[in-house]
Amino acid sequence: MANKQFDVVVIGGGPGGYVAAIRAAQLGLSTACIESEAYADPKGEVRLGGTCLNVGCIPSKALLQSSELYEQASHSFVMHGISTSGVKMDVATMMKRKDNIVGQLTSGIKGLFKKNKVTLLPGHGKFVGREDERWRIDVSGETVEATHVIVATGSKARHLPGIPVDNKLICDNVGALSFDSTPKRLGVIGAGVIGLELGSVWKRLGSEVTILEALPDFLGAADQAVSKEAWKVFTQKQGLNIQLGIKIIKVETGKKGVTVEYESGDETRTLQCDRLIVSVGRVPHTAGLGAENVGLELRPSGYINVDQNCRTNLPNVWAVGDVVPGPMLAHKSMEEGVMVAECIAGQKGHVNLDTVPWVIYTHPEIAWVGKTEQQLKNEGVEYRAGQIPFAANGRALGQGDTTGFVKMIACAKTDRILGVHVIGNNASELIAEAVVAMEFNASSEDIARICHAHPTLSEAMHEASLAVDKRALHF
Ligand code: FAD
Ligand code: NAI
Repeated sequence: MANKQFDVVVIGGGPGGYVAAIRAAQLGLSTACIESEAYADPKGEVRLGGTCLNVGCIPSKALLQSSELYEQASHSFVMHGISTSGVKMDVATMMKRKDNIVGQLTSGIKGLFKKNKVTLLPGHGKFVGREDERWRIDVSGETVEATHVIVATGSKARHLPGIPVDNKLICDNVGALSFDSTPKRLGVIGAGVIGLELGSVWKRLGSEVTILEALPDFLGAADQAVSKEAWKVFTQKQGLNIQLGIKIIKVETGKKGVTVEYESGDETRTLQCDRLIVSVGRVPHTAGLGAENVGLELRPSGYINVDQNCRTNLPNVWAVGDVVPGPMLAHKSMEEGVMVAECIAGQKGHVNLDTVPWVIYTHPEIAWVGKTEQQLKNEGVEYRAGQIPFAANGRALGQGDTTGFVKMIACAKTDRILGVHVIGNNASELIAEAVVAMEFNASSEDIARICHAHPTLSEAMHEASLAVDKRALHF
């Protein structure tokens, strides 16, 4: 029987892959997407959506929301005159809600595939070779042929030697999103994005949370003003025990749970916890892809080598998302997926890595785009910065949540916005204005001239732009 043939075959059905497939099909290309059985629904059928929908962005945000509501009901309602007593969290219901959201979204992508006529090929995709200018790909025993291949095989959690992840007592993101009860004592290795988000979830639900971080600085990628404020809120107000500059010596499991031995300065310390989350970054996933069969070039770090349009070293083979260098973020993966599909269809696509926003969904949320003040100092760029606290914002006061600020940094010579950093309620939504502004090379004066609705948190962005020119009106 003749092999199935497609214009485009995408390997991997995460945000990079499924979006690339949909866009390619929209552009009239016959398209298939191969997704392995890594994630399956209760009927055992392949689930699309990759890390993001199954064990990443979506489930973590569902748990963050539930735990935040519990925290508010327990501690914040009282300031509005609402008294509560006996507030309880049923972890099983919280998890079921999370699972339902995941199920709804992942099956929604199958619906989008049907609507756009993308063929889903369940199985493991592996390069076999190339004949007659067509790539041959094995999908769990069946060969398909493609003129173009988009590799979107994503990433997996980095594990540490000597720390065996069983996803019961010692968990990476997969187990950490499915605890069956609130651990009394939770240990976390790594004070990065996952450590802070999931550490926050369980802290709000009553765990004693200790986060052990190797680096001496807290949240080094964020603007220092933001990381300083975040440190204060997380450690002093919320009681997260974050220890910096540590070195893990040994991790053991036993009847008492997990014992972590670590060095802190000259001391050796022991952390006893009921569960441990290991969140020390992610690594690109190319295992079993057959890269060696076709000479697909990988970097020593394991990422697939690509140019600015996500072309690999092989003709008509592209790679997008976490498997290529750049921020490991779902929206960056999707942008690359769209760009590649459009390039294949003969259009021009682009992804501007300089305006990819970062968001950490703790409370307060942290969001930024562009350069930090310390980066600009290191690069010797002259800048002006304006910073406005939410304490000076009427909407924030009304909401009873005035933590944090908006900081805008603009070029001293041209006034072009170089970076915007927000810590506070709804930072994830507020940052969008800054991303638009930076994508269109706007100046702080441009934002200053835009009418912002009153009373809104977005007025803090407006005031920050005025503060760049030392003419804030309400601070
Ligand atoms: P993935 O989502 O990893 O998808 C790759 C897919 O390819 C998988 O489904 C895998 O099964 C499949 N696959 C791999 N190899 C093969 C093969 N050979 N054959 C067939 N299929 C294969 N990002 C954000 O932007 N916002 C967030 O809030 C956020 N939260 C996160 C929370 C957590 C806990 C984690 C772990 C990550 C989070 N991320 C977040 C990161 C985000 O999940 C990733 O950046 C995103 O999923 C990357 O998309 P991708 O398509 O490149 O890869
Ligand atoms: P991360 O890179 O954000 O943080 C890892 C932390 O672990 C770093 O601070 C690092 O210094 C520390 N670390 C590394 N080795 C260590 C060791 N041996 N001992 C102690 N600490 C050590 O990685 P994380 O949190 O695992 O998340 C992975 C990625 O997933 C993120 O970088 C991000 O790309 C994505 N993600 C995005 C989210 C979002 O957008 N809101 C949420 C969660 C994850």
